[in-house]
Amino acid sequence: MDVNGNYILEMENVNKQFSGVKVLDNVQLKVKRGTIHALMGENGAGKSTLMKILMGIYQPDSGSIKFNGTYTKINNVRDALNAGISMIHQELVQPQHLTVAEHIFLGREADYSIRGVLKKRK
Ligand SMILES: Nc1ncnc2c1ncn2[C@@H]1O[C@H](COP(=O)(O)OP(=O)(O)OP(=O)(O)O)[C@@H](O)[C@H]1O
Ligand SMILES: [Mg+2]
Repeated sequence: MDVNGNYILEMENVNKQFSGVKVLDNVQLKVKRGTIHALMGENGAGKSTLMKILMGIYQPDSGSIKFNGTYTKINNVRDALNAGISMIHQELVQPQHLTVAEHIFLGREADYSIRGVLKKRK
């Protein structure tokens, strides 16, 4: 195991502009395996933008994402889901009838369910 083997996620030097306005300025985010973090900052700080980059919704202007020890190009939401990354969005545009678990597994229910019940990935 390399020196960074205990990190599940390493976002390095992530930059993002919208219409020439810098929203993310060389952001570094490292998350150790088995830990839970809160990403905190004032309104408009760029929290959602960073998470949308991780989820493949936006592409960074530059920077890299290492997931599970491997540099990973997340081109779209499907890539993120396949890597095991999920996002519950801040905006209330969710299908309200779904449970929290169903939100998390939205779009890949077949991979995770048996007879309608969510199962653990083998
Ligand atoms: N698609 C977009 N196009 C243009 N500007 C955007 C876009 N998405 C976000 N922004 C701008 O980028 C900045 C960061 O927004 P972001 O939503 O990431 O902030 P946030 O930290 O999640 O804020 P909040 O606490 O309000 O959720 C804001 O100035 C926002 O207006
Ligand atoms: Mg936000």
